[in-house]
Amino acid sequence: MNTRLYRCIGKGFCGSVWALEDASTAIKREDGGPGRSVTNDYNMHILVLQSASRHLSPSSPVRIQQCYALVQPADVWWQDRLQQFPAGYSACRAIVLERILKIIRCIGDKIVDLFCADDPELCQSVKSNPDDDACLIRPYLGRRRRYNQDGGESRFRRFSLRNVPLHIDQMEMLGMDAAAYAEAITEALAMMHWGAHIDAGDVEFVLAPSRAESSTSSVFRSAYLGTHSLWILDFDCCQRFEMDEAGVEKACEAFFKNDPFYPRPGSEEAADEERWKVFKRRFLVASRRILGGSGGDAALPERLIEMIENEGNARRRRKEELVRSY
Ligand SMILES: Nc1ncnc2c1ncn2[C@@H]1O[C@H](COP(=O)(O)OP(=O)(O)O)[C@@H](O)[C@H]1O
Ligand SMILES: [Mg+2]
Repeated sequence: MNTRLYRCIGKGFCGSVWALEDASTAIKREDGGPGRSVTNDYNMHILVLQSASRHLSPSSPVRIQQCYALVQPADVWWQDRLQQFPAGYSACRAIVLERILKIIRCIGDKIVDLFCADDPELCQSVKSNPDDDACLIRPYLGRRRRYNQDGGESRFRRFSLRNVPLHIDQMEMLGMDAAAYAEAITEALAMMHWGAHIDAGDVEFVLAPSRAESSTSSVFRSAYLGTHSLWILDFDCCQRFEMDEAGVEKACEAFFKNDPFYPRPGSEEAADEERWKVFKRRFLVASRRILGGSGGDAALPERLIEMIENEGNARRRRKEELVRSY
């Protein structure tokens, strides 16, 4: 009997993610909310891998984890493995993935010191929480960290290293090249839209260590975070779209629904608006590389950007009206 036990390293609405200590694979179980499907996750993931192999340049810092298998509840795969899960867990549909390595502990500790500097008790409890060991960083290029009215930082009573949001102003404060991350995200988004024809609904971008064999020209380096890559994960909410107006509408909706990984148009801050303009320019360049400059589909990226800008401006107007009505 195999006595090594799976440990939960992540949880979302679709399922829970498990790994054996030091293993290079992770298991995503379909044991989350109803209507979520690891089968769709698997199918979309394969499309993204195929598109990435065609469209990501060798020097791209974007990585897609390998997707090894879709496992059914009755598969023999479970025979030896079920006993390695905690009591009460049953066989279910699952996918076997390449594991994304966590940010090493000492870097995680530095992040805790930075985020919770004003709360030594919280610092200590996060640092000693074994669940916080599975640290991945979410680059939020479209959001600043919130400050409360008197200018002080809002105090997070709860803080977890599992999926730490790193906001644009914090990236800048840490001397990270925000433009380089924006470029990687645009390249990834264009690759998913125009290469895989999926809306990228609810995908997650995380900063995490690079694969050992990564070439030195295709990684991010930061004094603070060390060498790392931009990984994309969680494809279960993605949907295929047709290369037409309705497809672009789907992509636009997904753009705004996702967590704020992308700079957005319609901000009151000049710096944010500038960031959106850079993102837009780069997105169009990356899209042209994939679709070519002419032909039936070549106009779709421009159309998507136009829709995103219209929606961003409409949101801004609604916000201004709301403020005026108070
Ligand atoms: N391949 C992986 N390697 C390491 N951690 C992962 C991997 N896939 C997912 N995770 C972690 O598990 C969490 C939940 O997985 P996710 O695919 O987002 O599930 P859900 O679809 O339920 O949101 C992620 O946010 C991430 O922290
Ligand atoms: Mg998720």
